[in-house]
Amino acid sequence: MTTFNESRRRFLGQSSLGLLGLTAVPNLARAMEGMGMHNRHTDEMTMPKITPNKASPNFHADVELDLFCKPNAIQILDGSKTNMLQYTARLIKGPKETLTSLPNSYLGDIIRFQKGQKVRINLHNGLSQPSVTHWHGLHVPQVMDGHPMYFIDPGETLVYEFEVVNRAGMNIYHTHQHGVTGKQVYFGLAGALIVNDDEEAALDLPSGEFEIPLVIQDKQFDSDNQLVYSSMMHSKMTGFTGDKILVNGRPNAHFDVSSRAYRLRVMNGSTSRIYKLAWDDGMPVTVIGVDGGLLEQPEVKSYVMLAPGERLDIWADFSGRNEGSELTLKSLAFAGVLPKMGMGMNKGVIPVGSEYPICRIRVTKKVSETHKLPMQLSKFKRYEISDTANPNNPLPIGISEAPMSMLLNGAPYSFNNPLPFERVKVGSIQQIEIFHAHGAGGMKMDEGAKHESGEMKRGGMGRGMGGGMMDLSMAHPIHLHGQQFQTVSRSFSGDSTAYDTVREGFIDSGLKDVVLVMPMERVKIIKPFQDFKGLFLYHCHNLEHEDMGMMREFSVE
Ligand code: C2O
Ligand code: CU
Ligand code: CU
Repeated sequence: MTTFNESRRRFLGQSSLGLLGLTAVPNLARAMEGMGMHNRHTDEMTMPKITPNKASPNFHADVELDLFCKPNAIQILDGSKTNMLQYTARLIKGPKETLTSLPNSYLGDIIRFQKGQKVRINLHNGLSQPSVTHWHGLHVPQVMDGHPMYFIDPGETLVYEFEVVNRAGMNIYHTHQHGVTGKQVYFGLAGALIVNDDEEAALDLPSGEFEIPLVIQDKQFDSDNQLVYSSMMHSKMTGFTGDKILVNGRPNAHFDVSSRAYRLRVMNGSTSRIYKLAWDDGMPVTVIGVDGGLLEQPEVKSYVMLAPGERLDIWADFSGRNEGSELTLKSLAFAGVLPKMGMGMNKGVIPVGSEYPICRIRVTKKVSETHKLPMQLSKFKRYEISDTANPNNPLPIGISEAPMSMLLNGAPYSFNNPLPFERVKVGSIQQIEIFHAHGAGGMKMDEGAKHESGEMKRGGMGRGMGGGMMDLSMAHPIHLHGQQFQTVSRSFSGDSTAYDTVREGFIDSGLKDVVLVMPMERVKIIKPFQDFKGLFLYHCHNLEHEDMGMMREFSVE
């Protein structure tokens, strides 16, 4: 038996070496348990098994499709095929534009719904492991949301039936299997789900071949072209990053275009990598939409940040360019998103925050069409703080970081076990504040004190673990299921040298379901909890963090 003091001493010894010294992880784990800190998913990770939902005879679907998940070997690199997990869809009923496949890709077919359609999706698990699918961005009832409690075993089928109430926008469908979401997404279980509506159609934006999805991911391959997904502690801490950037499932991606306007539907499908997107020739990035659909007016930026789970709708006008000309979509250099000791730890990979190309655009056809970017894109309901149920008392989402536990509101994921303030009234509009609750995993919520101050009380141990010895602060893309939210304000207090490399890249004018929260930053959002009661997750969309338990749920009652 290791005594508390002995293990604590060992822990401190290791931490002074930084996480590079984490080969003796069991000691660290024990030390942390001894200090009352939660280990990753050893406890409280029990998920019930719910009998899979069946088709209801009273639901008259406008669109019905089968969605299979199964292993498949895909030719990605030269040489051996890569063993992946893949979604494939088959249309049973509905318009044939509902499904578009991406050529030579492991990514799922692009699913396209119209607002107002009633859809039925039969999810068939053809894997050798359990899985469940979540419609990231869609506002659906709890039983249709792909909460991990609805997972299905190999061979089982889960039927989803819902009406598409979302406005036009690009959403994501991806696995949400408990504890292995990151791994299953990394092996391929993700796809784009686009909603169209009349407001968008009236704008006559570039469509068909002029609307290009760009799903950006990073992966690491071994010498036999098989995927590497490390479970090393350091890659869990900072998130796993790859040595190749893939767009729509292809490495070294390029697109041939005509010299005219395009609509690029960009999604960060990486498990943890954050991008700073810019055109290499200095053309500004014209953003017309984000996670929750079109902005009211376009925003013109020199670069845009894109964190895991976030989407961007970009207007890219190549008119006036000569046949044979090229440009590159890049990720530019930036700092401050990783803990200081985390930089450069994933050897051999493309460092997060370094400069590298994402894909090349080649103008192969000169045309003389001109398309005008609409200056008024859409209208949507905006809330004021005074519309919220808690104008003086924002609901907290406190981020805390420690080597083996990434927590929200001081607690790891625990099924159907909401903290008092995580119970939210259905129909209410809530002000939420997301911030770094310094003091790492030792921080304890004082539940009696509720969240009067918007701040949490800290347990005694906190500072030494997280704040003092190691600066584990990093950026977290926080995602909330259900309806999209507005970003009301960001405030940053700290050394701005790193922050200055990203601060102009946030698009806060649109409706969002993921928001990147930088170290030392506080972000206020307003989110409606309308229509549906039940358990709705909120979590870090750094999927390694999510799988470590950086996930909680709101109980909408
Ligand atoms: Cu994109 Cu709960 O996930
Ligand atoms: Cu989601
Ligand atoms: Cu995180």
